[in-house]
Amino acid sequence: MTPVVVTGKIPQSGLDVLNKAGLKVEAWTNDEAISRDELLKAVGGAEVLVTLLTEKIDAEVLDAAGPQLKAVCNVAVGHNNIDVYGCTQRGITVTNTPGVLTESTADIALALILMVTRRLAEGERVIRSASPWQWGMDYMLGSSIQHKQLGIIGMGAIGAATARRAKACGMSIAYTNRRPVSAELERELELTHMTLNDLLASSDVVSIHCPSNDATFHLLGEAQFALMKESAFLVNTARGPIVDEAALVAALQKGELAGAGLDVYEHEPVVHSGLLGRDDVVLLPHLGSATQETRSAMATLATRNAVAIASGGVPLTPVN
Ligand code: DGY
Repeated sequence: MTPVVVTGKIPQSGLDVLNKAGLKVEAWTNDEAISRDELLKAVGGAEVLVTLLTEKIDAEVLDAAGPQLKAVCNVAVGHNNIDVYGCTQRGITVTNTPGVLTESTADIALALILMVTRRLAEGERVIRSASPWQWGMDYMLGSSIQHKQLGIIGMGAIGAATARRAKACGMSIAYTNRRPVSAELERELELTHMTLNDLLASSDVVSIHCPSNDATFHLLGEAQFALMKESAFLVNTARGPIVDEAALVAALQKGELAGAGLDVYEHEPVVHSGLLGRDDVVLLPHLGSATQETRSAMATLATRNAVAIASGGVPLTPVN
């Protein structure tokens, strides 16, 4: 039996799914992500790969795995770490984990909206550094989000879940999306559809929820930041390469926008040095799906996909 190779540490619930199915499993169990060399060795002879977003699954890895490889099951909804086109050409199925991380990622988007508009991380740093402070009428004032416009780029499940939370906080919701959303969702969230440029020019907070691919690479760069209100904030919980990070730093330096809340980075885990010292920026280490429950659900869904494919069945959540 050719094995299922799990290329990163996943919750036990995922390994249990594979073991219960009686599959031969080879799993990377270190906390540290697998090195490229180890990855190329580990995938040899695999029938199914269960991968994390830290592993780049490109032609070299597919070659190293061999022609028996049937599927790459990513433990993430995003799949920009996988050459999906290359997999399709070789007849390899790619799966992801939509649905199970929607609410936790939207929680982090809302948290970043509140953190950056209300200067929460900056305030916490004051306390932790034991700096002198005193309540004052104009001490560390932020911006209210009530009666302000949230512009959602990419109204998929996570965009809608973020919009739902923001609406409960009194925000109005504008969005831009490749496809029109359902009339029901438009009604529920009282959505206003806009072009990207109109959304950037009129929103008080812009939150990114589109997939990362060739079409969305540097979707937000110098020209787009120049359109934003000087009082507006950018939030990104999707993928780093959607934002030109150097252009974001330049725009913040020029005061073209008021701040940014980021959970993802263009060259993750490296963060642009121009962001690190700025108080108008909130920086989280890609925590969107980081709850016990969500990570367990992601691992379970990815491995159920692996079992389905290894046993000749139909995957639950295919990408290609
Ligand atoms: C995803 O699933 O794409 C998330 O970014 C993982 O945290």
